Amino acid sequence: MKSSISVILPVFTFLLSASWATSDSIYAKFYDCVNLNTDISIPFSNAFFIPNNASFSSILESTAQNLRCLALSRPKPDLIFTPLTESHVQAAVICAKELDILLRVRSGGHDYEGISYTSETESHFMVVDLSKLRSINVSIEENSAWVQAGATIGEVYYRISQKSKTHGFPAGLCTSLGIGGHITGGAYGPMMRKFGLAADNVADARIVDATGRILDRASMGEDLFWAIRGGGGGSFCILLAWKLRLVPVPAIVTVFTVPKTLEQGATKLLYRWQQVADMLDEDLFIRVLIQPVNLTDRKGNRTIQTTYQALFLGRADRLLKVMKKGFPELGLTPKDSVETSWIQSVLYIAGYPGNIKPEFLLQGKSLFNKTYFKAKSDYVIEPIPEYALEGIWKRFLQEDSPFTIWNAYGGMMSKIPETETPFPHRKGRKFMIQWLTAWQSGDTKTAAKHIDWIRRLYNFVAPYVSKFPREAYVNYRDLDLGIDKINGNTSFLKGGVWGTKYFKNNLKRLVLVKTKVDPDNFFRHEQSIPTLHGLSDGNEKNKMK
Ligand SMILES: Cc1cc2nc3c(=O)[nH]c(=O)nc-3n(C[C@H](O)[C@H](O)[C@H](O)COP(=O)(O)OP(=O)(O)OC[C@H]3O[C@@H](n4cnc5c(N)ncnc54)[C@H](O)[C@@H]3O)c2cc1C
Ligand SMILES: *[C@@H]1O[C@H](CO)[C@@H](O)[C@H](O)[C@H]1NC(C)=O
Ligand SMILES: *[C@@H]1O[C@H](CO)[C@@H](O)[C@H](O)[C@H]1NC(C)=O
Ligand SMILES: *[C@@H]1O[C@H](CO)[C@@H](O)[C@H](O)[C@H]1NC(C)=O
Ligand SMILES: *[C@@H]1O[C@H](CO)[C@@H](O)[C@H](O)[C@H]1NC(C)=O
Ligand SMILES: *[C@@H]1O[C@H](CO)[C@@H](O)[C@H](O)[C@H]1NC(C)=O
Ligand SMILES: *[C@@H]1O[C@H](CO)[C@@H](O)[C@H](O)[C@H]1NC(C)=O
Repeated sequence: MKSSISVILPVFTFLLSASWATSDSIYAKFYDCVNLNTDISIPFSNAFFIPNNASFSSILESTAQNLRCLALSRPKPDLIFTPLTESHVQAAVICAKELDILLRVRSGGHDYEGISYTSETESHFMVVDLSKLRSINVSIEENSAWVQAGATIGEVYYRISQKSKTHGFPAGLCTSLGIGGHITGGAYGPMMRKFGLAADNVADARIVDATGRILDRASMGEDLFWAIRGGGGGSFCILLAWKLRLVPVPAIVTVFTVPKTLEQGATKLLYRWQQVADMLDEDLFIRVLIQPVNLTDRKGNRTIQTTYQALFLGRADRLLKVMKKGFPELGLTPKDSVETSWIQSVLYIAGYPGNIKPEFLLQGKSLFNKTYFKAKSDYVIEPIPEYALEGIWKRFLQEDSPFTIWNAYGGMMSKIPETETPFPHRKGRKFMIQWLTAWQSGDTKTAAKHIDWIRRLYNFVAPYVSKFPREAYVNYRDLDLGIDKINGNTSFLKGGVWGTKYFKNNLKRLVLVKTKVDPDNFFRHEQSIPTLHGLSDGNEKNKMK
């Protein structure tokens, strides 16, 4: 061992300094170019970070949600740029294009595969981090809000609630999600059964396109405006800001959390929930959080706990009637039902303790510690039979920290046509599953063990979920579904595999839009939408016609 280390070390040092040298020269050229191409009245010399800057790591790690993606073995950016104005973002695109630098965009850093700040396939790239662009203007009169990409969804919820107790916005449950990446992938949350996705509730957008122009809905045209509302981040443009359409919420809403273990009949109850969850009153959203828990009686004996967590857009008395009619098996009581304001329900559903004040949302981060994780998603058309649930429980009891969340669809989600936005998982989807396993150690062996576990689980459940294609949610990015060679030509056969899982037939229109607005494939990553020119095989091209 010793001798191999002494051989490797000099090489390693050499690589390290080579990468610094690259960073230094990229930085110098990029800085000069930005200087020439932007409004220099706003000083921006403090907005660049290269690996030998003391604050480089803390900036890189700041919003990175998945510690797995910060592994030493993963290439890190040569340069991070944190634009202070929209004009800086324009310059970033112009200069990255001119200098042929691969560019990654980060808003909230929640990408499941970390592709907004690292790369699996590329060793040189830079990150444009929009965390300094986070202004939010709410207008109750116009029933809308303009929000910059770097703001978190929690800040948006808070700013709306400061202006009105009866307005809200239907986006994600996790309050630290970045507006930029979140809404470009669809964005579901506890109000989706009533109002659809966040992407279904945007009225306008400001973007920087691949040539560095700022465009809004009118100037970008309806094709591109369609593509950015669910086609996934990092393929078409840099999103600067969204104009959100607010939705009405009651001054008082009701929430509940009811846990059931296997010993309390969890399997039968979950089978029943699968039958009714998408048919219930649209004001009611119930999700089920499932994980192993320790039994208090005996050490090391675990069981599965299913936790029914809900938001109801109304008061407790009506909720109890809705539950009695639609899902009496849960046995909801008045004691379980907590009446609260919409903004408090946001904190409740995010899982924060009751003493956390809404002002916490302004910190723009989560209360929970980050973990190393790997996740996957599935859509369910027919209830998963009880024997298959039991097979899932068996696998869960063999894993350290597995977790799955089942989110009810139906309601408005079934009424919006599949082609309305690129997000195709609409009518007939009873619920979406997120599978996840988390761990707390950076070594590759540990990671490999848990990733292997979740891949086996994914194979096990294949017969019970959507097929042809097996659908997946683009915001739960999973590189196991396929990776494109990003500097060479994209193979549509490959792109087609993961692409149809995320977008079904909408993939074709996404490719056509991409070809029109970014023919040189400037905005690209491991799972970006390919251009038609990039398709390597003539037959694949013909299929697209
Ligand atoms: C803890 C946690 C909870 C979550 N909860 C939910 C939930 O309740 N509902 C839900 O729908 N999803 C949820 N997600 C998934 C989430 O919607 C996606 O990870 C989303 O992409 C995050 O956006 P971001 O800006 O934070 O991430 P980033 O990592 O910054 O970006 C994600 C992707 O979008 C691209 N991108 C980022 N900013 C821009 C921009 N301005 N312009 C163009 N492209 C951009 C990136 O390059 C990357 O490809 C959750 C994720 C996590 C980690
Ligand atoms: C980062 O390092 C570069 C080159 O050494 C230096 O010019 C720059 O001022 C540093 N930036 C910060 C924010 O420390
Ligand atoms: C909000 O309004 C301020 C003041 O008019 C403006 O400078 C800012 O750009 C606006 N933000 C957004 C996201 O539109
Ligand atoms: C459950 O018990 C195991 C073994 O005793 C322990 O390692 C683990 O931390 C416990 N988990 C929780 C959530 O208490
Ligand atoms: C674990 O608990 C369950 C339910 O209480 C019980 O049936 C089982 O025998 C226990 N197993 C062990 C190994 O203690
Ligand atoms: C987060 O980690 C810190 C330091 O390890 C620890 O003190 C704290 O209790 C953790 N918080 C949660 C919510 O787990
Ligand atoms: C991509 O395909 C085009 C057209 O077939 C070809 O000219 C080009 O050389 C290919 N590029 C790479 C990197 O293979």
